Amino acid sequence: MSDSRFDLIVIGGGPGGYRAAARAAELGLRAACIDKGALGGTCLNVGCIPSKVLLESSELYHKTAKGLQGHGIMVGEVGLDLAAMMTRKEKIVGTMTRGVAGLFKGHGVVHFSATASLAGDGRVRLQGAEGPDELQAERILLATGSAPVELPGLPFDGRHVLSSTEALSLEEVPRRMVVIGAGAIGLELGSVWRRLGTEVLVVEYLDHILPGMDREMTGQLQRLLKRQGLDFQLQGRALGAQVEGGQVQLRIEVDGEERVETCDRVLVAVGRRPYTENLGLEATGVELDDKGRVPVDGDYQTSTPGVYAIGDLIEGPMLAHKAEEEGIAAVEKMASRPGHVHYRAIPSVVYTHPELASVGLSEEAAGAEGLEVKIGRYQFRANARAHCMDEIDGLVKIIAQAETDKLLGMHILGPQASHLIAEGVMGIEFSGSAEDLARSVHAHPSLSEVVMEAAWAVGQ
Ligand code: NAI
Repeated sequence: MSDSRFDLIVIGGGPGGYRAAARAAELGLRAACIDKGALGGTCLNVGCIPSKVLLESSELYHKTAKGLQGHGIMVGEVGLDLAAMMTRKEKIVGTMTRGVAGLFKGHGVVHFSATASLAGDGRVRLQGAEGPDELQAERILLATGSAPVELPGLPFDGRHVLSSTEALSLEEVPRRMVVIGAGAIGLELGSVWRRLGTEVLVVEYLDHILPGMDREMTGQLQRLLKRQGLDFQLQGRALGAQVEGGQVQLRIEVDGEERVETCDRVLVAVGRRPYTENLGLEATGVELDDKGRVPVDGDYQTSTPGVYAIGDLIEGPMLAHKAEEEGIAAVEKMASRPGHVHYRAIPSVVYTHPELASVGLSEEAAGAEGLEVKIGRYQFRANARAHCMDEIDGLVKIIAQAETDKLLGMHILGPQASHLIAEGVMGIEFSGSAEDLARSVHAHPSLSEVVMEAAWAVGQ
C-alpha cells in the first residue's frame, strides 16, 4: 500500500478520533489520523483535562487557606502563585498529548498534522501538511468535535469576553467575573475562579441550573455553591456588553427589566456546536440536521456512503467518553465486529465541589416516560468515612422501576462522585436491580457504602 492509501482515515485527533484510530489499528486496519491542532483535541488541550487540573489546584488552595483547622492543622499565610499553577496545568496537558502520540506510534497509526477536507470518492485533501496533499481510504471517520457557541451581542474577544479556552489561561485573578450559563463549563470554571478569590455571578436563562440533570440534586448543588460564595441570577438573559476602561458593562434582562453588571471578565458558557466548517461536507453530500449535527445510521454512517461521524458532531451529550465509545463501536462495526454503545449507561459528571455525577434516568425523565418508580436516598453525613474526610455534604439517590426493581438511574452529589458513579454504570449496563447493589458487599469504611445504603433504601 502506498503512503497515501489507508483502510481508514480519521479526521480529528480528540478522544473520539484517537481512540477510533488506535482501535482500527488493533483490528488490523491501516489507519491515519489527521488533526490541524495538537493531538488530544478540546478535551486534552482546552477542556476536560486542564479544567480538572485547575479544579484540583484551586480546591487545594481554598482548603489550605480556609479549611484545615478542623483537622488540627494550623497553616500560616497561604500565597497564590497563579503562574506556577498554570505552568503545572500546561505540563500535564503536554504529558497527556504526548501520550496520544505514543499511542499512535505503538499502534502504527499514521498521524498527519494538517487541515483536512473531504474531496469525494474516498479522498481527503490536506492543507499545511508535510508530505502528501491528498490521502485516499475506503472509509473516512469524521471526529472534529465542537466549538463554543457565541452569543449575539457578546462576541468573544479573548480578553474581556471569554470562551472556556481563555478562561483556563488567565494571567491574573479577576476581581469580578460574570458567567453566562449554568451548565457544566460555567459552574466548573466559575468555581475555579471563585476559589482563587474572584467574585462570581452566574447568569442562567432558565429557572434552575444544569438543565437535564435531576432537579432535586441540582437544587442541592446550587445551595452548596451559594454557600461557597457563587451568586446566581436565574431567569436572566445576557443582552450585550461594552468594554470601557478595561471594565465590561454587561447588560442583562431579568423579569423584563434591563440592568447593567460591571465586571472585569465575562465567561460565555452557553453550549457548544458541532464543528463542521470547511470540512467539504456540502460538496460531498454529507447532510446536516437543523441543529448543525451530522445525522448517522446505526453504523455511524452519514448520508454519504463510506463517510462516518461520531462524538460531538452527532446527536447526544457532548462528552469525551461518549465520543470514545462511539469511535470504538464505529470502527468495530467496520471490521464486522459487534460494536455497541449503551446510551442509557453513559455517566455525566460536573466537577464542582462536591461533584455531581449521574447515570440513567432522572426522576423527571422517568416521569416523562410514564415509568412508575421507587426511590432510595442516603446522605453522606451518615457515613463514617465521609466524616473522616470532612466531606459530609450531599447524597446518593437511586431510582428503580417500581414493579421489577430494575435500576433506572443513579445520582450522586458528594465526595468522589465521579468515581462512585461507576457502580451505577455497571448496574445499569448489566440490567441489575437495586437489590443487587444493596446485597453486594461494600468495603467498610468507604464512601461506596452510601451507594449501598441508598440501594437498601429503595426497598424500604
Ligand atoms: P450547557 O449546554 O451544558 O449549558 C449551557 C447553559 O447556558 C444552559 O443552562 C442554558 O440554559 C444556558 N444559556 C443558554 N443561553 C443563555 C443565555 N443567553 N443567557 C443565559 N443562559 C443561557 O453548555 P456548556 O456548559 O457551555 O457546556 C458545553 C458542552 O460541553 C455541554 O454539552 C457539556 O455537557 C459539555 N461539558 C461537559 C463537562 C463535564 O462533563 N464535566 C465539562 C464541560 C463541558
